[in-house]
Amino acid sequence: MRTPVIAGNWKLFKTIAEATGMVNELKPLVANASGVEIVVAPVFTALSRVSEALSGSNVRLAAQDCYWEEEGAYTGEVAPKLLADAGCSHVIIGHSERRQYFGETDATVNKKGKAALAAGLTAIVCVGETLAEREADKTFSVIETQLKGGLTGFSSDMLAHSIIAYEPVWAIGTGKTASDQQAQDVHVFIRSLLAQMFDQATANAIRILYGGSVKPDNVKGLMSQPDIDGALVGGASLKADSFAAIANFAA
Ligand code: 13P
Repeated sequence: MRTPVIAGNWKLFKTIAEATGMVNELKPLVANASGVEIVVAPVFTALSRVSEALSGSNVRLAAQDCYWEEEGAYTGEVAPKLLADAGCSHVIIGHSERRQYFGETDATVNKKGKAALAAGLTAIVCVGETLAEREADKTFSVIETQLKGGLTGFSSDMLAHSIIAYEPVWAIGTGKTASDQQAQDVHVFIRSLLAQMFDQATANAIRILYGGSVKPDNVKGLMSQPDIDGALVGGASLKADSFAAIANFAA
């Protein structure tokens, strides 16, 4: 009942030509992928042109971040409605790299999430523990703090228009993926926490993605877990063939 989502986060990679070239290669490779939502997240400068290249395809467009104000004297920021204007349907919020390097906090994640939803975008809200936190047995408490802070003031309806991405920081870009069971255990925790914070029906319906070294050869095992509803893919999303192999995990 939960349609899986396979999303590619391209981070700070690809010129406009490289990004449009990649989606032109990708489109035929995923044209027959049914029962899965496919999303790519290029850099801001490529969004509009990638949107044109994706027109008429089954691949959707995401931005990697947004600001929470609609307009104003906020040099360098991009508002959610401008992302929608550029063709985005989704926006990634609170990625661990933004938390680590750019001062993102649960409070800013919260403001960004609300603003994204108000602009009609689907918010992909990221959470995840560091290696030190996992080793100190703090995984669940860290995730709980991030979700409670990030989703403060959300209604069930707002949650229903969001996607959660669990990305253990120690698994990102390290080639060290969480085991199927480690990921499943955290996804179960997230879903039960959302049931407490909202209601069981909304928690049952929300998609919870796993991210962290997802590759064509480990996606099937992860996706076979009952509470893993998709993947947020970094490195392996940069090439059309490997991202298509992940998106076609069910084939
Ligand atoms: P990798 O797939 O490169 O580990 O990156 C995961 C990620 O951060 C996706 O947002």
